[in-house]
Amino acid sequence: MNTATKTARKLAIVTGATSGLGEAASLALARQGFDIIAVGRDAARGASVIDRVRAEGGHAEFVAADLFSRADVARLVSVLLDKAPRVDVLVNNAGGSFVRDERTVDGVERTVALNLEAAWSLTEGLLPALEAANGRVINVVTGLQNFMKASPEQLFGPSASAGNGQYIRAKLALLSVTLEQQRRYGGRGVSFVALHPGIIPETRFGSEMPAILRKIGPFIARLFRIASTPEQAAARYVKLATEAIEPAGFYYEGKLRPAPKFAKDPVFSAAVWGALDQAHTKTLAQRTSASAAPSA
Ligand SMILES: NC(=O)c1ccc[n+]([C@@H]2O[C@H](COP(=O)([O-])OP(=O)(O)OC[C@H]3O[C@@H](n4cnc5c(N)ncnc54)[C@H](OP(=O)(O)O)[C@@H]3O)[C@@H](O)[C@H]2O)c1
Repeated sequence: MNTATKTARKLAIVTGATSGLGEAASLALARQGFDIIAVGRDAARGASVIDRVRAEGGHAEFVAADLFSRADVARLVSVLLDKAPRVDVLVNNAGGSFVRDERTVDGVERTVALNLEAAWSLTEGLLPALEAANGRVINVVTGLQNFMKASPEQLFGPSASAGNGQYIRAKLALLSVTLEQQRRYGGRGVSFVALHPGIIPETRFGSEMPAILRKIGPFIARLFRIASTPEQAAARYVKLATEAIEPAGFYYEGKLRPAPKFAKDPVFSAAVWGALDQAHTKTLAQRTSASAAPSA
C-alpha cells in the first residue's frame, strides 16, 4: 500500500489491531473508507485482520512492533513516517491489565509501558504527519479512572507493580496526557480525545487474570446489561475518527463527559509529562548514538 500517493484517501493507524476492539475498529474504519495500518506483535493475527479488511474491499497493511520496548516504538515511528507523511487518525488502542509483576527490557512496569509510554511516544513521533493532515489522536482509556488518584512514583518508581489498580492509574495518566496534548498541540490543527470504549467481555483483555475472574466480570456485566459488543465499541472509534468534537477538558464514552478532576491536576499532569519526556529523550539519544557508532 503506497499511502504517500493516495492523498484523496484517509489513513488510520490502529495499535493493538490484532484482536478485540482494535480489530473491530480497523474493520469499521476501513468500511468508512480509511486505509488502515494495523500495528501489533503477532504476524499471523495481523495477517488475518488484513485479510478481513481486504475481503470487504478495504485497504490495509500490517506493521509489526512490540510496544513493550522503547527502541521498538522508536523504530515503529520511523517505519510509519516513511510509509505515511500524512496521518488522519492515530488510535492508541493497544493496552491491557497484567497480573504478573514483570518489567520490560527498559525496566518499566509493563502496564505503564504499554498503556501510557508507548501511546505517548508514538504520538510524539507521529506529530509531523498528524499535523500535515490536521489529524486526530484517539487514546483508549477506561471508565474506571474517574474514581482513581495516582502518584508518579506508583507509575514510574522502583516499587511500581502490576494489577488492576495499576491499569486504572495508567489509564488515568493517559487521560491526563490527552488533555495536555490538546493544550500543547491543539493549536497546530491536531485534536486529541480519550475514549472509553464500554465494557466488552468478548476480547482477550486481561488474559493473565485467573480464569475465574475472567468469567465473573463478563457475567456481572451481562447480568446488569452493561456489556457491549466489539462492534458497538467500534462505532465509538468511528464517531471520534470522523466527527468534529470539542475535546478540551472532556473524554468520550458514548457522549462527551467532563474529565475527572484528578486528570486535570496540574502537578500530576506535569510530573507524568516530565517522566515520559525524559524517557523518550533518552531513547532518542541512544538511537542516535547507536546509528552514529562505526560498524566493526
Ligand atoms: N474490553 C473492555 O471491556 C475494555 C474496557 C475499557 C477499555 N479497554 C481498552 O481497550 C483497548 C483494547 O482492549 P481489548 O479489550 O480489545 O483487549 P485485547 O483483545 O487484549 O487487545 C489488546 C491488543 O493490544 C495488543 N498488545 C498487547 N501487548 C502489546 C505489545 N507489547 N505490543 C504490541 N501490541 C500489544 C494485543 O496484541 P497481541 O495480539 O500481540 O497480544 C492486542 O491486539 C485496551 O486499551 C483496553 O485497555 C477495554
